[in-house]
Amino acid sequence: MLLMSSLIFIFLVVLVPHVVLARGIRRSEEILVFDQNYKVTWGDNHVMSLNQGKEIQLTMDNSSGAGFASKMTYGSGFFHMRIKVPGTDSGGVVTAYYLISQGNRHDELDFEFLGNKEGKPYSLQTNVFADGEGNREQRIHLWFDPTTNFHDYKILWNPHQIVFYVDNIPIRVYKNNSNLGVSYPSKAMQIQASLWNGENWATDGGQTKINWSYAPFKANFQGFDISGCQSQSLIDPNCVSYNYWWNDKNYWCLDPAGQRQYENVKQNYVIYDYCSDRQRYPIAPLECIH
Ligand SMILES: *[C@@H]1O[C@H](CO)[C@@H](O)[C@H](O)[C@H]1NC(C)=O
Ligand SMILES: *[C@@H]1O[C@H](CO)[C@@H](O)[C@H](O)[C@H]1NC(C)=O
Ligand SMILES: *[C@@H]1O[C@H](CO)[C@@H](O)[C@H](O)[C@H]1NC(C)=O
Repeated sequence: MLLMSSLIFIFLVVLVPHVVLARGIRRSEEILVFDQNYKVTWGDNHVMSLNQGKEIQLTMDNSSGAGFASKMTYGSGFFHMRIKVPGTDSGGVVTAYYLISQGNRHDELDFEFLGNKEGKPYSLQTNVFADGEGNREQRIHLWFDPTTNFHDYKILWNPHQIVFYVDNIPIRVYKNNSNLGVSYPSKAMQIQASLWNGENWATDGGQTKINWSYAPFKANFQGFDISGCQSQSLIDPNCVSYNYWWNDKNYWCLDPAGQRQYENVKQNYVIYDYCSDRQRYPIAPLECIH
């Protein structure tokens, strides 16, 4: 039984993505340098450009972390970043890759890597804010060690759904249920990434603090091309057009292979889901049911 499910998993995780990649997930092969699309936003002296700008390293020590952001804001897209997160003992250290709008009642789509003590797995938290409402945390354990190699983290955002992917495996889907009164991100968002001190919440509910004897912590990023529709504050109507491949029908819901991968993640890798936290939500939020 165990062997069977391992075999199925290997099939789903290792083999299927290549098929999906070949068919669906178009991506520019062009390797851009950081400065073409991104800028450093804080902690300048904790940012290092590597490989002629094709890679960026953020560091954090007891004086500062660092962050960067896209120069433009976007109204839809299929965003991605290759990331290698800090290794060894990284309890309390948070590496984040996210989309965020400006102003009140903001929208935000987050990947947050929650560092951990040596030998304990990283958790990857995702969250969705729409119209200022968040509190939609989900957490998974990854099926690989994210500290040793780069992996792909992606966010699809079109008028129908938001999907978070890890190496092309869907790990979370947030549907546009606005017809049921559930809010859905509708403001232009900027892409941001950062390495920061999250010791008051990130690891063991804030009990594990950063051990600075392991500093500086280092997170590396690659893949600075952006598949997104540029837009100012309110989404340009053009951003929902089918001329953008990520708005195409193929991206309105997961295909059967993607659905199977997603089910597998939910069964085997999810460690926390606000949708099933009855202490917090005695009645499941609407988007959890639909
Ligand atoms: C920060 O780290 C440096 C180098 O390890 C150390 O010399 C310094 O005392 C530390 N500062 C604080 C405020 O902990
Ligand atoms: C969400 O879906 C509704 C239709 O159900 C559509 O009118 C709306 O534009 C969509 N929202 C976004 C932000 O794309
Ligand atoms: C921090 O790490 C050092 C080196 O491994 C260790 O000696 C020390 O006990 C750790 N500090 C805490 C508070 O765990």
